[in-house]
Amino acid sequence: MTAPTPKDGILGIEAYVPGKSKVEGVENPVKLSANENVLGCSPLAMEAFAAAAPRLAAYPDPRATVLRQAVAAKFNLEPERLIFCCGSDEVFQILNQTFLSPGDNMIQGEFGFAAFAIGAYAAGGEVRFAKEPNYRIDVDEILALVDERTKLVFVANPGNPTGTILEGAEVRRLADSLPENIILVLDGAYREFATDPDFDDGFDLARERGNVVVTRTFSKLHGLAALRVGWGYAPSPIIAAMDRIRLPFNVNIPAMEAAVAALGDDDFQRRTVEHVEQWRAWLTQQLGGLGLEVTPSRANFVLVHFPKTPGRTAAEAESFLASRGLLVRYVANYGLPDALRITIGLEDGNRALVAALSAFLARR
Ligand SMILES: Cc1ncc(COP(=O)(O)O)c(C=O)c1O
Repeated sequence: MTAPTPKDGILGIEAYVPGKSKVEGVENPVKLSANENVLGCSPLAMEAFAAAAPRLAAYPDPRATVLRQAVAAKFNLEPERLIFCCGSDEVFQILNQTFLSPGDNMIQGEFGFAAFAIGAYAAGGEVRFAKEPNYRIDVDEILALVDERTKLVFVANPGNPTGTILEGAEVRRLADSLPENIILVLDGAYREFATDPDFDDGFDLARERGNVVVTRTFSKLHGLAALRVGWGYAPSPIIAAMDRIRLPFNVNIPAMEAAVAALGDDDFQRRTVEHVEQWRAWLTQQLGGLGLEVTPSRANFVLVHFPKTPGRTAAEAESFLASRGLLVRYVANYGLPDALRITIGLEDGNRALVAALSAFLARR
């Protein structure tokens, strides 16, 4: 008898590696490895989640109507052009499944978010990685990889793990330059932390064109990562195709209720953005003061570069920080073996991080 074998390509896929949340011998480590909201979530979201408890026996509304209405109203979008999913990860997965056939290709930045590629490989597609000079998405590098089998281009804006943005004019140039049969996905998971006036979140592009999709999440700004709620805004034919394979009950009732409440809590959202802006600037300046290069970030984390000198490397820094209860993300699997990605923490965590890195770099 032969054992069941996964279809071609599956065993070649590297599974997603989540940020560490535990370290041997440390009771309550400070988790700065998953870009979660360190302020938690809105108290209104917690109340709404708890209030949904008596409804656990019911299947959720497959159209996510209450959430659809709330998102449409908040962002001034047409409700029928929205899709709601189990995190924005599921939106990417469905896009890959819907539009990529074996032999087709998808393009993303060389340091692009790992979840984009997993779905593309699972669909039998090829993934092409566009160079990111200075850790930034480069429109011409993407365009140079396009051919007649290209179906999707994924751009996280701001990027993860780089934290850099593609300016509004460049987003538009990319959309203008891509053939109309190729879908441009603009993943705005960290969008709210990019407060630059010329940032373009892509909603107008998605409204005007037949081939632009914008995705957003409740996991970052709203601090609801545990509940897995993400959404996409896209032209109607794209939504209609995706809805055919979206599993019907993919957003559960407590998650939906909490998300609606979170969307209405402007005060919590404002406090989150202010916290990130204040401590991002502080961390960038302090780490720079230690002689480390920090890529200027527009997200709720920073990418910090380490020397290759033995004793000073990113891998050794990660272990040293972990031994002091500070968990950060080593990003070698993103093609960045000399860097760490560090979530902007609470004041105590940020200060402890700088002190620990200072001690690390002072070791003989
Ligand atoms: C760039 C980027 N996009 C999307 C996501 C996924 O978010 P969600 O929790 O909505 O699946 C993340 C999560 O870390 C991310 O970093």
